[in-house]
Amino acid sequence: MVASANGRVGIMRAVEVLRRGGSALDAVEAGVREVEANPDDHTVGYGGLPNLLGVVELDAAVMDGRTLATGAVGAVKGFAHPVSIARRVMEELPHVFLVGEGAERFAREVGFAPTELLTEEARQVWLRMLREEGQVEDPSRLPYLEKMRQYVGWAMDPEKASPGTVNFLALDRAGNLAAATSTSGWAWKYPGRLGDSPVVGAGLYADNRYGAAACTGRGEMTIRACTAYSLVRYLREGLTLEEAGRRAMEELGHLVDRYFSTVSVVAMDRWGNHMAFSNRSGATYVFMTEDMETYQERERVYVPVTRGRSL
Ligand code: GLY
Repeated sequence: MVASANGRVGIMRAVEVLRRGGSALDAVEAGVREVEANPDDHTVGYGGLPNLLGVVELDAAVMDGRTLATGAVGAVKGFAHPVSIARRVMEELPHVFLVGEGAERFAREVGFAPTELLTEEARQVWLRMLREEGQVEDPSRLPYLEKMRQYVGWAMDPEKASPGTVNFLALDRAGNLAAATSTSGWAWKYPGRLGDSPVVGAGLYADNRYGAAACTGRGEMTIRACTAYSLVRYLREGLTLEEAGRRAMEELGHLVDRYFSTVSVVAMDRWGNHMAFSNRSGATYVFMTEDMETYQERERVYVPVTRGRSL
């Protein structure tokens, strides 16, 4: 079992699922749900920081390495466990991706209970941001501002926002791989913005034959470079896990992006060897096997990719 560092709160639970003989898919979902329920994580689920209008919008996805089946939801409001909605999309619909009102309707239809996701703590952070940075005293005016886009730069300022996500990858006893992601996206994002977490190939990928990968960080970059798929594709071409991760990260260096920033990737090959990569030094990830008593945290391989120039 491998997760981004904020997966600490869920990895024991996920490994417990594997110990009981559960599938990799069950395990990644169980791990992500713990993080979604954690009010202290302001980048995922309940307690996540909101969009510019003060509304928490969630994105999540799952991928089954046995079948390459995927399910994803984006910009979902009012449901605490988008990862489980994504799984139901995969299992019950002839679709792979639902967003906004359609995803919320489907969640109600399959029995998920609506819930308020904005905690008082997150609401206060949002109000402070509006008042101190935006000089917007009355937040009820926000929906009527003609140029809300002028504020969206806050989302790209590492001092004011953070693009966290949770990633889980698992290999089960039957040799099956699965991946799952979940996020509240960038704080202060423009309403309706989707990151990479629900975008299969960008935010996550799992293929039993080769390996699995998932990303955190600036989704606008990994969407353009198809980073999770790119890493698995390099494994398919016979590169080692370390070479595949480095190459996938280096591809990001071709992106011309005025908001170029952090991207981190966790990866596992089909035998369960794992590694993680980041263009920020000192970043970590966690892993645990069935025979370990607790998880271990390990530093990611630092790949110093920087902003690209036109090709
Ligand atoms: N990687 C999370 C996001 O960009 O929303």
